[in-house]
Amino acid sequence: MDDLRDKYLGRITAAPDEATLEAVRLEAVGKKGEIALKMRELGRMTPEERQQVGPSLNALKDEINSAIAARKAGLEDAALDERLRDEWLDVTLPVRARRSGTIHPVSQVTEEVTAIFADMGFGVAEGPQVETDWYNFDALNIPGHHPARAEMDTFYMARAEGDDRPPNVLRTHTSPVQIRTMEAVGAPVRVICPGRVYRADYDQTHTPMFHQVEGMAIDRDISMANLKWCLEEFCRAFFEVDGIELRFRASHFPFTEPSAEVDIRCSWEGGTLKLGQGDDWLEILGSGMMHPKVLAAGGIDPDRWQGFAFGMGIDRIAMLKYGIPDLRAFFDSDLRWLRHYGFGALQMPMRHAG
Ligand code: PHE
Repeated sequence: MDDLRDKYLGRITAAPDEATLEAVRLEAVGKKGEIALKMRELGRMTPEERQQVGPSLNALKDEINSAIAARKAGLEDAALDERLRDEWLDVTLPVRARRSGTIHPVSQVTEEVTAIFADMGFGVAEGPQVETDWYNFDALNIPGHHPARAEMDTFYMARAEGDDRPPNVLRTHTSPVQIRTMEAVGAPVRVICPGRVYRADYDQTHTPMFHQVEGMAIDRDISMANLKWCLEEFCRAFFEVDGIELRFRASHFPFTEPSAEVDIRCSWEGGTLKLGQGDDWLEILGSGMMHPKVLAAGGIDPDRWQGFAFGMGIDRIAMLKYGIPDLRAFFDSDLRWLRHYGFGALQMPMRHAG
């Protein structure tokens, strides 16, 4: 009896899987198993022997059955553990491979410009794209009859019938943010104002929606020399090309006096735009000393304060820096173009030391 127990209990504990365990079960306690055979032998025993051996065989059968049940439960647990280990899934990982989304050159350049001017102490201000006639024109010393209004190819918003206030406009430049900023923070102040602007114009270097960044610095003794230094400093940091050449051209804006437009030397040879070489000039910004009437419109006393302002085309300088020949492609949403000219999400705008 002890030999039988040792034999089967040993094999049960050693059974590596359920199939082996089932084979052991049949061999031990199955209908034709060893215990059943022993039971049959009871018939040939004396009543005394039978009384002793019968219950022992039954007890052994029970013991083997429960050992098998225990081993089976153990094997099932181990199988489950293994499955849990194998089928473990990190639900925080992306299911599909990452898409190659990129940062649009306009966003990238806006960040670069912001970083460079931040180093020169400029904050950032924003204003609405739908502007009132007052902020977009009058406050900037562009009265109703002024030819600059026609020159700007303005998009006008519709007014309800019977409403005879002047129509709102899609802002034609970021200059209205000058007025809004003066009203909000007064003087002294130093800000840039990046954003979308609109003009009805369409060719290789003009789109009906484009981007400008306005700059404005107001203090007691700001001069044209400060303006020139800031712009040259900016271009050096931004373009990162040796031989950058700027041309300051006397010009006229109603909101600055004196005024200057700034062009940058470039070449279009072979359809590629290159900087600091060639015989072409691309206008990148308008600038000047803020007109006393503009300071006054912003609630600032022109006898105590003066300031410079400039407005620069973000798309223009993006084209120049990254050699993109056609502005219209910026807004086509062509995935091939976006992948080619786009920037990685982690490509932070860097300010190079020196
Ligand atoms: N607002 C002008 C334009 O859009 C640019 C400008 C801004 C000029 C500030 C002078 C001062 O062309």
